[in-house]
Amino acid sequence: MEKILHETALAMVAPGKGLLAADESTGTIKKRFDKIGVENTEPNRQAYRDMLFTTPGFEQHTSGVILFEETLFQKSLAGQPFPQLLAAKGVVPGIKVDKGAHALPGGGADETITEGLDGLRERLLKYREAGARFAKWRAVITIGPGAPTYDCIHTNAHALARYAALCQEAGIVPIVEPEVLMDADNTIEVCEHVTEWVLAEVFQELYYQKVLLEGMVLKPNMVVSGIKCPTQAGVQEVAERTLKVLKRRVPAAVPGIAFLSGGQGDELATAHLDAMNKIGGVPWKLTFSYGRALQAAALKAWSGKNVEAGKQAHLHRAKMNGLAALGKWDKSLEKAA
Ligand code: 13P
Repeated sequence: MEKILHETALAMVAPGKGLLAADESTGTIKKRFDKIGVENTEPNRQAYRDMLFTTPGFEQHTSGVILFEETLFQKSLAGQPFPQLLAAKGVVPGIKVDKGAHALPGGGADETITEGLDGLRERLLKYREAGARFAKWRAVITIGPGAPTYDCIHTNAHALARYAALCQEAGIVPIVEPEVLMDADNTIEVCEHVTEWVLAEVFQELYYQKVLLEGMVLKPNMVVSGIKCPTQAGVQEVAERTLKVLKRRVPAAVPGIAFLSGGQGDELATAHLDAMNKIGGVPWKLTFSYGRALQAAALKAWSGKNVEAGKQAHLHRAKMNGLAALGKWDKSLEKAA
């Protein structure tokens, strides 16, 4: 079992490849579809994901795709189950298994705890049978007045470790995602401090719950300025501070770190990843597990009807991020597109 977990984790962070997070819940995809005037129906969700997953060549830059439960059990427009379609291209299918972030009882303003542990052991068996080889659970940490609290960080870290241990028992690689949100007005120093605290707690809990570090992938936020902070740190500073925190808190046994984009612009998310890989000298692979930063352009180009334009936009971003995962991206490549 340990060997399977380790091999899957390594495949997820293969050189020059990263993960496509296409696991928007039905509620979240509605927000995305609303912006392009597409109705949130099952056939439209199927058509959209079909466009993404049948993009010719995206598999050269994509190691795996995180699916929402509906998509895991859905078929492509050509009638092939989506997990099989992906696996046939050498892309590992995965599944989001958490049930979302809910108000933390007794928590500070806007603090949440991610739910979904009850019945997870049984659900994982069903997901594995359907082809999922890895899973994702997202914990959300808010920065604000009086937040985060220790309670929020600790309960979320504990739940992440419970989830990760259950995944490994089922032969599924857990993506451990503690996301410190970037939507407040805090400075980059505050993000650095909170991110380090969160990672310290998460790895403590993973240790207590005997999670195999060699068989997991970490999906953290980068250390950035809050989006409403008047002074925004530059690309090099983001890269340096992110690496500093990761080096302090992530054991070398973890095969790879796949960042979330968290609301960063498409190109900025690519530039940050590229800058970190240019610095290098770290024991883990550094790659992407982007949702918005990989899909925003494709979604807009597609707009419910332009399938070829959507695929082109998707392939371009996948390619740019694949290069960034090697530290070989350059801004001039964006203009050439
Ligand atoms: P973003 O890259 O849009 O933050 O999404 C990644 C993700 O999977 C969040 O859980």
